[in-house]
Amino acid sequence: MYTKENKLRIAILISGRGSNMEAIVRRRVMLPNVEVVCVISDQEDAHGLTIARNFNLEAVYLPAGPFKTKLEGEAEQNYIAFLKERNIDLICLAGFMRIVKSGLLSAFPGRIINIHPSILPLYPGLHTHERALANNDKEAGCTIHFVDSGTDTGAILRQRRVPILERDNPDKLANRVLKQEHIIYTEVLKDISENIISIGK
Ligand code: GRF
Repeated sequence: MYTKENKLRIAILISGRGSNMEAIVRRRVMLPNVEVVCVISDQEDAHGLTIARNFNLEAVYLPAGPFKTKLEGEAEQNYIAFLKERNIDLICLAGFMRIVKSGLLSAFPGRIINIHPSILPLYPGLHTHERALANNDKEAGCTIHFVDSGTDTGAILRQRRVPILERDNPDKLANRVLKQEHIIYTEVLKDISENIISIGK
């Protein structure tokens, strides 16, 4: 049970710009039961680390090991140790460009969520906006979902849709979707911290 006295302790994992992380931090007055404990990046030069430090958050670069697209082995164990030391309740992936493997998943069962820029199950993986435009879709959107061992396959927590407009391009569409991403991440965290959405024990 999360309360103002017993907050939901979150870690936000990023790889770059960090605008979703920033949106969560900026909206924290709406999240009295949430504590952003730390921000972790697998990229040393991630702009999001600078943003997080400007908010006086603990913001660290944690090397993610030899693989480009996954977090595994010793590096994964370092992530787990870092997160466990800080008693993290929920890991929030926000533009963290790596596949999370079984070690982290079993260390935080049902306690990892992700934001994805499509209306899942449409367009898991990369280049979602390009694919929506190529298919002449009428709408696009974003999804917050639990992370499981698949790629963008975990249970869906919330979605938002936006129209695809004539003369859209991937950048314009991405910006329109991103605004909605920033809203739903906070909404889902609010629901978890108010015990409306349950996470793993
Ligand atoms: C977002 O579009 C998110 O949906 C995707 O990666 C992007 C990260 O953007 N997973 P930012 O780093 O939060 O600005």
